[in-house]
Amino acid sequence: MTNKLKYFIGNWKMFGDFSSFKIVHKINQFSHKLKNKHKIKIILCVPNTLIYFFRKKLKTKYISLGVQNCHSQQDYGPFTGAISSLMLKKAGAEYIILGHSENRAEGESNQLIKKKILSSLKQKLNIIFCIGETFNEKKAGKTFSILKKQIRNSLAKNFNVNKILFAYEPVWSIGTNKIPKIEELEKIIKFIKNEIKKNYKVKKDVKVLYGGSVNSNNIRLFSFIPQIDGFLIGGASQSSKKFIDIMKNYYK
Ligand code: PGA
Repeated sequence: MTNKLKYFIGNWKMFGDFSSFKIVHKINQFSHKLKNKHKIKIILCVPNTLIYFFRKKLKTKYISLGVQNCHSQQDYGPFTGAISSLMLKKAGAEYIILGHSENRAEGESNQLIKKKILSSLKQKLNIIFCIGETFNEKKAGKTFSILKKQIRNSLAKNFNVNKILFAYEPVWSIGTNKIPKIEELEKIIKFIKNEIKKNYKVKKDVKVLYGGSVNSNNIRLFSFIPQIDGFLIGGASQSSKKFIDIMKNYYK
């Protein structure tokens, strides 16, 4: 089994209330044990309504906390109902998911995502930047060109990409129980790493995660691709048992 650092990131989406802290607590306890054995980083991205509360409740922190989106303006402003990266940082977020396909489906363009990335970088948030093709784009053989476009149009040359974790999430795989073929996935992960290395100033390794229907049954398959640096886990991260089983099975 690999000794490289692996990320296990939960994307809670629109889920949870104050009582859901018990999920965070259980995962935190478990990760303490796992951290002694493996190089692992666990991050839970929770709703904005919970980040401050969870941050205060977590006394011993073996896991990190993040959020799932922000407004494109960095500070304060006349944007009813919106929350900026500054406000999220102040509330205790260390990580932020940006460019998720569920937000893209509601009209987020690469240009808008670029502004959000910039504002989050200015707040020194670590970014989990999601990219991925739809089923029709895949069928039309456009996967690589779409990924290229999403990267180039959302990241300016001077952005600090060392603060960004890339999450490859094929849209057709999110919440569907469908996952890519392992050989295809390996090629795509390598392609993303090369694209970033070619076009941006990278200090260390480019980190690329996979997301889309990851569960405790299929996680073993992904462990055969050493280039995958970790996982963005949606549905299964809303249960401590499911999330913990994924990590257990990965290292089995
Ligand atoms: P899923 O979601 O694991 O429920 O497919 C992944 C995601 O949307 O990040």
